[in-house]
Amino acid sequence: MNSRFLMCAPDYFGVEYSINPWMTHNLGRVDPDKAKKQWHRLFETLSKFARVELLKPRPHAPDMVFTANAGLIRNDAFIPSHFQHLERRREETHFRKWFRMMGYRLKDLASPVRFEGEGDALFQPESNLLWMGYGFRTDLRSHDLLKKLFLLRVITLQLVDPRFYHLDTCFCPLSGNRVMYYPGAFSTDSLQSIRANIPAQNRIEIAEEDALHFACNAIAIENNLILNHASPGLIHRLQSLGYRVILNPVGEFLKSGGSNKCLALSLTHR
Ligand code: ARG
Repeated sequence: MNSRFLMCAPDYFGVEYSINPWMTHNLGRVDPDKAKKQWHRLFETLSKFARVELLKPRPHAPDMVFTANAGLIRNDAFIPSHFQHLERRREETHFRKWFRMMGYRLKDLASPVRFEGEGDALFQPESNLLWMGYGFRTDLRSHDLLKKLFLLRVITLQLVDPRFYHLDTCFCPLSGNRVMYYPGAFSTDSLQSIRANIPAQNRIEIAEEDALHFACNAIAIENNLILNHASPGLIHRLQSLGYRVILNPVGEFLKSGGSNKCLALSLTHR
């Protein structure tokens, strides 16, 4: 098992405020028992493919379950997030403490720069390419800072649909130089960048229906894809490309605007 992930149990998870359109109609509507079952199923499934580390949940931080937003890992360096919304800033010290305790080198971006970790920064597997999103949460300025910090190739993508406020809600880099994404979430220029960098046969463009079920918010470990839901057509397409589709419904977390990928931060990026 080469992969490692970080998760945080949903002991204090809930929709207690609204900072994205999914949360607006779901205030106070999470079923805690159901959420715990869904989270545990993900933990069990992920544990078959990877080592899963656990971060202690904290009261008054209902979104801390979404560890993908803690920051970004590159080798032994951790770039901590600085959240757009005050509601999530109290998570920052807990994330920082854990990574420091685990021996990571903390590399801060300039302090007023908003950066929401893997929510808006996704590595292309087996490559030096980092896809970065902006438009709702992460500042465009962070893209350049990360590029310089790690000498990466960065492709900037502008998000334009508030339902897909983080890059990982509408874009998923896959092994074999492939990407899966929902075109409607991107500006015309950004769609152009995706298409200019990935050949047509390697682009899996998905329909709005699948996107709204968070099909792009998939955890990809080699050819295994863990995702909330996908239409029979999409499942068939992914299978015919050699992917193994593992469905893990996490409806309680969709109420907060997150799914499987948001619930686990990858700790192995080289
Ligand atoms: N309620 C959380 C927020 O709005 C959900 C975060 C989902 N995380 C993600 N990586 N997309 O910040």
